[in-house]
This record gives sequence, C-alpha cells and structure tokens, in this order.
Amino acid sequence: MGYRVAVVGATGSVGREMMMILEELEFPVDEIHAVASRKSIGVDFSKVDIVLMSAGGAISKEWSPKIGKAGPVVIDNSSAWRMDPDVPLIVPEVNPDAVAMFRRKNIIANPNCSTIQLVVALKPLHDAARIKRVVVSTYQSVSGAGKQGMDELWDQTKGIFVLGPTDPHVFPKQIAFNVIPFIGAFKDDGYTDEESKMWNETHKMLDPNIKLTVTCVRVPVMVGHSEAVNIEFETPLDADEAREILRDAPGVMVVDKHDETGYITPKDAQGEFAVYVSRIRNDATVPYGLNLWVVSDNLRKGAALNAVQIAQLLHERGLIEKTPA
Ligand SMILES: NC(=O)c1ccc[n+]([C@@H]2O[C@H](COP(=O)([O-])OP(=O)(O)OC[C@H]3O[C@@H](n4cnc5c(N)ncnc54)[C@H](OP(=O)(O)O)[C@@H]3O)[C@@H](O)[C@H]2O)c1
Repeated sequence: MGYRVAVVGATGSVGREMMMILEELEFPVDEIHAVASRKSIGVDFSKVDIVLMSAGGAISKEWSPKIGKAGPVVIDNSSAWRMDPDVPLIVPEVNPDAVAMFRRKNIIANPNCSTIQLVVALKPLHDAARIKRVVVSTYQSVSGAGKQGMDELWDQTKGIFVLGPTDPHVFPKQIAFNVIPFIGAFKDDGYTDEESKMWNETHKMLDPNIKLTVTCVRVPVMVGHSEAVNIEFETPLDADEAREILRDAPGVMVVDKHDETGYITPKDAQGEFAVYVSRIRNDATVPYGLNLWVVSDNLRKGAALNAVQIAQLLHERGLIEKTPA
C-alpha cells in the first residue's frame, strides 16, 4: 500500500520535477494531488500522508504549519522554516538522523539549492580531515529563480538577436550575456540573504565551527548550479586522497581527468541526480588546502530530488503515519 501525496506548486520548475522524480524513484504513491495557484481549492490535507510544498516562502509560512497540524508530514522547499530549531533541515547523505524530531511541527525543511550540493561534497571530506574554513563562489542558473527566471533569460536572449533588448523584470540587470553578483536581498553587512543561507544552513546541518564565506552570482545558464570551492583543513588531506574519498561518497560522482573535457559543466549535470565534483587540486597557499569544482542540477538534487529522498528516508524508517481515509 502506497501513500497519498500532494505536491503544492506542481506547475512550477521544482514541482514538475517532484512529480517526475516520485515516479523515477518508484516512491510508493497510491494517490497524487497536483496543486497550483489555479487549483488550490478542493484538497483536504487531512486525507493526505505527505505534502511536498514548493509554492514559495509566503505560502509555506502560512500553510505548512496548518497542513502539518492537520496530519500529513510537510516537506517544505522554501526558506521559511529552515532555521527553525523545531524543524529538521535535511540532506539525507549528510544528516539523516536529524529527521527524528520532525513531529514537533510535522515539517521537514529542504535546504537551499546551493547549500545542498555544497554539503554533499563537504561532508565526506570533513569526516576525513576536519574542515576549518571554506570560501565559495557560486555560478547559479536562472531556474533557481523559478520558471519566470528561465523565461526572462529566454526572452532577453531572443530579444537581443531578433527584436532588440527587453527590460529586466525578474533579475535586477540584464542576465543574457551577463553575470550578476547579487541574488536575493542585501543585508546590513553587505552580504545577501542567499549568501547567509549558505553558511547558516551548513552550520545547522554539518558543523557550526566551519568558517564559511560566500559570493553568490547569477549566470546565464538555464539549469545547473556550479560552485568554485576552496577548503582549508585541520589535518592533512591531499587531492589524490580527496578524490578517492569522494569517489566512495554517497550522492557524489567524481569526473576529474586532466584533459580538455575531463570535468563537468551545468549542461552535463542537467537531468541527473548526482553532485559532480571536478578539478580537485591541492591549494599550496595554506598548510592543508584543496580546490574543487562542484556542479549539480538545482531543480533535482538542489530541490525536488532531495525532497523526495527525504520522503524515502521517512518511509525506510517507518516514520510516515498514514492518516485515516
Ligand atoms: N528553483 C530552484 O532551484 C529552487 C531550489 C530550492 C528551493 N526552491 C524553492 O521552491 C519553491 C518553488 O520554486 P520554483 O522554482 O518551482 O518556482 P516557480 O517555478 O515560480 O513555481 C511556483 C509554483 O507555486 C505555485 N503557486 C503560486 N501561488 C500559489 C498558491 N497561492 N497556491 C498554490 N500554489 C501556488 C505556482 O502555481 P501557478 O503555476 O498556478 O502559478 C507554481 O506551481 C520556492 O519556495 C523556491 O524558493 C527552488
């Protein structure tokens, strides 16, 4: 017997992937409700076992606790509940046991897309040699801003060649043939909230003692986030050892040949499940340092896949209570 599942935000970039991944992973589903803004009425959430929430922060803030109280477990894709101490923030390869306290609010948070791929790559290295400090620069695709972000890149690209430039709406400056070193909103310290999500969430899931600094950049790529990651360790770990550790790590694929195509680009990662690690090099400027290039499909491992893997984790541990029919 499978579960009754609702996907809220089912017409969005992430929601659509969720519907596909439930099928691809053969998650046991008996009944599925696809909910979007034009069809939000009519679902009785008390008659559903699992809700995959992916309709933005404002909807999650208001609705996830109400739905959680009605019975089903909510796996929430927005940033609304990630730092709540009563809500576990989960990447199954990194901190699966933290899921245990999810009944406090009946909500489990899915981390930020850039954080997920980062911690999947950092976790096995941290276990091996204790990470002291990480410096990350992201190269984030426009699908991270939803389907409107993808439409804007498409329209601007066509516009520049065919119709003349169009004004930016979703992004603050032209994104076609450009890069924008600003994602989210500025905070008082000059960082953006997208940047602070990455260290806050890494601290919550992996280790609060890791020092992490980030620059988040939007690039004119449709799908797939990339990260240049510099790591400093407490104890020795060289590139060859790191490559071997990452080859055995759950969720990671190493593609690291020293030839002109021996690394991963976002185009290669699109539609795939893995977090890819390439360009593994020693950083000789510190005692124990490494550089990595980390790429993953932000709509899959960065969002929908991780959410479905959380549901799988709950299922495997027998933690999903079926609500009465
Ligand atoms: N894109 C990413 O890489 C990524 C990664 C991690 C987390 N997230 C998070 O996932 C969430 C969804 O992102 P997205 O990229 O899929 O956005 P999106 O493409 O803009 O889709 C938004 C979805 O929410 C639905 N929606 C809007 N208002 C609604 C309402 N009142 N009731 C029910 N459904 C409503 C929309 O339905 P209509 O089609 O009917 O308007 C659509 O299905 C956001 O919280 C985002 O921060 C995204």
